[in-house]
Amino acid sequence: MPDTDPASKSMEAIVALCKRRGFVYPASEIYGGINGFWDYGPLGTALKNNIRDHWWKHTVECPPIGPDGEPVSIVGLDSSIIQNPRAWEASGHVGGFSDPMVDCTETKKRYRADQVLVMVSWDVEDGSGDEPNGAIDRLFAFNDSDDKSYALARKKAEKFAKKIGVTVASNPTIWPLTHAEFDGAYQYIVGPDTETPGTLTEPREFNLMFETFVGAIRDDSAKAYLRPETAQGIFLNYKNVLDTMRVKVPFGIAQIGKSFRNEVTPRNFIFRSREFELMELEWFCAPDDSPKWYDFWKHERMRWWESLGVSKSNLVFRDHAEDELAHYSKMCVDIEYKYPFTAPGYGELEGVAHRGCYDLNAHTRGTVNDKSGWKNEFSNAKMEYLDQERQQKAREAGLSKEEINAASKYIPNVIEPASGLTRGVLVLLCEAYTEDESRPSKVFMKFKPRFAPIKAGIFPLVNKDGMPEVAQKLYMGLREKFTCQIDAKQSIGKRYARMDEAGTPYCFTVDGDTLSGGTVTVRDRDSQSQERINIDQVEKFLAEKIGE
Ligand code: GLY
Repeated sequence: MPDTDPASKSMEAIVALCKRRGFVYPASEIYGGINGFWDYGPLGTALKNNIRDHWWKHTVECPPIGPDGEPVSIVGLDSSIIQNPRAWEASGHVGGFSDPMVDCTETKKRYRADQVLVMVSWDVEDGSGDEPNGAIDRLFAFNDSDDKSYALARKKAEKFAKKIGVTVASNPTIWPLTHAEFDGAYQYIVGPDTETPGTLTEPREFNLMFETFVGAIRDDSAKAYLRPETAQGIFLNYKNVLDTMRVKVPFGIAQIGKSFRNEVTPRNFIFRSREFELMELEWFCAPDDSPKWYDFWKHERMRWWESLGVSKSNLVFRDHAEDELAHYSKMCVDIEYKYPFTAPGYGELEGVAHRGCYDLNAHTRGTVNDKSGWKNEFSNAKMEYLDQERQQKAREAGLSKEEINAASKYIPNVIEPASGLTRGVLVLLCEAYTEDESRPSKVFMKFKPRFAPIKAGIFPLVNKDGMPEVAQKLYMGLREKFTCQIDAKQSIGKRYARMDEAGTPYCFTVDGDTLSGGTVTVRDRDSQSQERINIDQVEKFLAEKIGE
């Protein structure tokens, strides 16, 4: 069995295959690229669309079965990327959507402070057990989860320790740069990419929203933002949907779309990019039902990722600690994947957040507090919901008017399963990447067949004797139902190798026996085994296999 543990896979090799086979290219490559931006090539676009369509199908068109045994109710939306900037003030993104960053004044490099760790060099050993003189004067910073950066910091620490006649402990204490202890100690810290102490600035908050201007005048009154999440477009349209569609709480609004964050340190290929795609569901429910729905969506979303063929052993839940919750979030659980660059640890793939009534409140007149006090200038929208079923029950129970109102009027709470579509692409790329020395390509992409960019390769064995015509006829009969590619160039081995790297699950070859007996060979990508089937059975064969 090929190894499915991402810990054994090389990210460099995956990135190289993505470039070589047209999954992902660096954006603006001929101009030297642009940090944090990527272009999806023909195969990457097909893979991304397959994941996107699967999400839409199983969220909006055929939503999951809820705890009561009935399908839940979810509608779709496609809102504008640029909204009135007041929406982002109200949502808290203008004031609070930021990352702490540090700059290196020497190298001009910028780091996310929460991703920089510091090796504490006074943990050196001189045999005396005492803190050696001078050791406290140096701290060595490196990038979190980057082994090379750690090795470099350690080398610098060892050089420094040698100078003062001691050795660095084999397991020195390591603290986050943001550790309170380091207040005022920045002059002693040697940055990840320099030898000089004191070049790192203290952390400053850096807003992640991209700014632009709407219209011809470029002043503050024309300033607007590229959305950092699609969720706000949903909250802004919550009343529209409620008033125009036959939905009642609990229900969801789903949206897929581009989002933009001016990340301080984009990294790890398409894991953290500055332009990316989100698949977001905002699930509106009664406040007292919200724990039940939080639990429902948490497990439902894990099941969905497994349905893409991601191994259970590579996925985990991780509850957010209170101090890492986003400004809108009451609680949040991440679904994490074991990426090659986090293994043996895991990294974020999807967050299921309990947003409470934060956003609907924020977009309601008079309910936003921006630390300088309550402001009531955001909108006049009334987000309160009248729950007619609860109202009816309260009436039947003979409650007073006030009690009926209290029982049936509320601002819905929101449970938000939000995942990166482009992160989903990365997960399937990492999951599918399988080395196999025995085959000419040395590697194949083991996508679950329904997510493979190309479902079938169709090859005439040779370019003569009527084989190309039969292959073309087969292709013409299949192409409306399955993404197929006809390939007549080079040896059959080279064609299999190309399809292996593209992750095509099945290849059909038209040969001499096809002409005489009406059968083709079908080659299975994973086992490389071949069988003969009747050419009339190819469509049925694919329908059964791809549907699995
Ligand atoms: N809307 C969820 C997020 O921005 O991560």
